[in-house]
Amino acid sequence: MVPEYDAAVPPPVPPDEDTYPQVAIDRGPRRRWILEYARPGGVGAEFGVFRGHFSVEIAEFLQPSKLYLVDPWTRSGERFEWGDIPETNFNRLTTAQALADARARMAPFADRVEIAFVEQWSHEFCRGLMEPLDFAYIDTDHSYETTLVDLEAVHDVIADDGVIMGDDWITDPTHGHAGVMRAVNDFIRNRDYEIVVAGPEAQWCIRRTPSYTTPRRWLPNRIAPSLQDEQPGLRGRVAHAYAVARPRVSRSWAAPLVRRTRSVVHRMKAALRSRA
Ligand SMILES: C[S@@+](CC[C@H](N)C(=O)[O-])C[C@H]1O[C@@H](n2cnc3c(N)ncnc32)[C@H](O)[C@@H]1O
Repeated sequence: MVPEYDAAVPPPVPPDEDTYPQVAIDRGPRRRWILEYARPGGVGAEFGVFRGHFSVEIAEFLQPSKLYLVDPWTRSGERFEWGDIPETNFNRLTTAQALADARARMAPFADRVEIAFVEQWSHEFCRGLMEPLDFAYIDTDHSYETTLVDLEAVHDVIADDGVIMGDDWITDPTHGHAGVMRAVNDFIRNRDYEIVVAGPEAQWCIRRTPSYTTPRRWLPNRIAPSLQDEQPGLRGRVAHAYAVARPRVSRSWAAPLVRRTRSVVHRMKAALRSRA
């Protein structure tokens, strides 16, 4: 639900100039399912806000106690320069208009959610953040490089039992946004994280590998809605859903056991080799 503007206040983006596609607006509620993996009422951030369409979904669905909305907006220039596309009114939309529009869109939540608009790049914001985030939603420029920088920055500020979610889990390597899935996969390979789910509308969620020391009791440990529920046109753009695959064992408890098992197997193999 996108709140109506107050008719007495001129909208930041005049409706007769607004070419933001209806298909993008309609996608908002269909992306919402991913938010079920975050704890309601927590402290969170959206990285890459634009005009605040998905910020509304986050505020409505999660009712966070605090929501940081992080986007460089005017600091990235006067316009977005994404080319001749309807999302930016064919490059007529200014970054100042987008920020004003996001503010107007979020105004109805001001009495329920503490909202902080932050005109910064994600990594800059994370460097200065003084409290852990229960959830982060990444939707920035969809490149491999930026997504990896964002993930590394968020890694420093996400709570032990927090979740990192995002848009654009696109498996087609020729797609312009394919860098997101690649960056997430490289990130979890190098860090102690795992994929919780990736599914419809190209949504994804990762978290630190669970341990007994940091139980994540509220996480609905279930498979995402079936791809069959997806819009036919988007079929193939997203990966299959994953169930949580790894066992929930404490790292400190499991490590010596794993080491001992490996060494027994290693010794058995060596003995077999020497007999051969
Ligand atoms: C696809 S739009 C976000 C759309 C929004 N999440 C939604 O669903 O309506 C991408 C936004 O990311 C912002 N952005 C690009 N690089 C960024 C970065 N490094 N940190 C934060 N925001 C960034 C851009 O200014 C732009 O507004």
